[in-house]
Amino acid sequence: MKGVILAGGTGTRLRPLTKMINKHLLPVGKYPMVYYAVEKLRTAGITDILLVTGKHSASLYTDFLGSGKDWGVKIAYKIQEEAGGIAEALELAESFVHPGEKLLVLLGDNLFEDSLAPYVKEFANQPEGAKVFLKEVEDPRRYGVPVMDGALIKRIEEKPEQPQSNYCVTGIYMYDASVFSMIQAIEPSARGEMEITDVNNLYASKGLLSYHLLNGWWIDAGTFPSWYEATDRLREYSGPSLPGDGK
Ligand code: G1P
Repeated sequence: MKGVILAGGTGTRLRPLTKMINKHLLPVGKYPMVYYAVEKLRTAGITDILLVTGKHSASLYTDFLGSGKDWGVKIAYKIQEEAGGIAEALELAESFVHPGEKLLVLLGDNLFEDSLAPYVKEFANQPEGAKVFLKEVEDPRRYGVPVMDGALIKRIEEKPEQPQSNYCVTGIYMYDASVFSMIQAIEPSARGEMEITDVNNLYASKGLLSYHLLNGWWIDAGTFPSWYEATDRLREYSGPSLPGDGK
């Protein structure tokens, strides 16, 4: 299975800091935010990773992550010229994923406690479809909100006024290779973006969208309060030591 980290976007809710630097490079504990996504993939056994980001700050990603060698993974990069939505960023991964191969996609600002290792194994054995990870939240109106039907998701409503559940669809997604034809089939939304929720809803309409509930904490670190919370949670976190670390 391949890993894709989406680390573009404009980070408007973290301005003025994101005027200087891309959101996913802001420090969280000892590391830039993006590091945690790499760790989540690596510890789930996924070492072939594509990072999609914008032109702004792109060279800082290579300064920190390089080829991935020091981190025990292989990292390739793609540039999204202009922010046009999560599904548009994901489309850039098409040539990175071989026909029939599956992928785990992480939004780089989603920080969380659970290990993905068991779900990667399980999804690798699943013949087709997609899986999203849900978390119960206080204010679902900020997120994609699922309407569930047993073990499947019937549909997802993006930032609804009247949420149908207290769950949010987190930025942790697993897809089979048909995700790229699903992206082809959607149109930009009213806000002019290619929405990942529309892609997920195509899977849902075919009865192919399952879910898993996260047990541990989960944070979308895209606002100041949630970024501070992430910093608190991960203050003591230390990954594997690197050559020349002096640890
Ligand atoms: C995006 C998705 C949304 C999801 C959220 C999770 O929203 O569109 O469905 O719940 O990520 O972090 P955004 O944070 O880009 O507004």
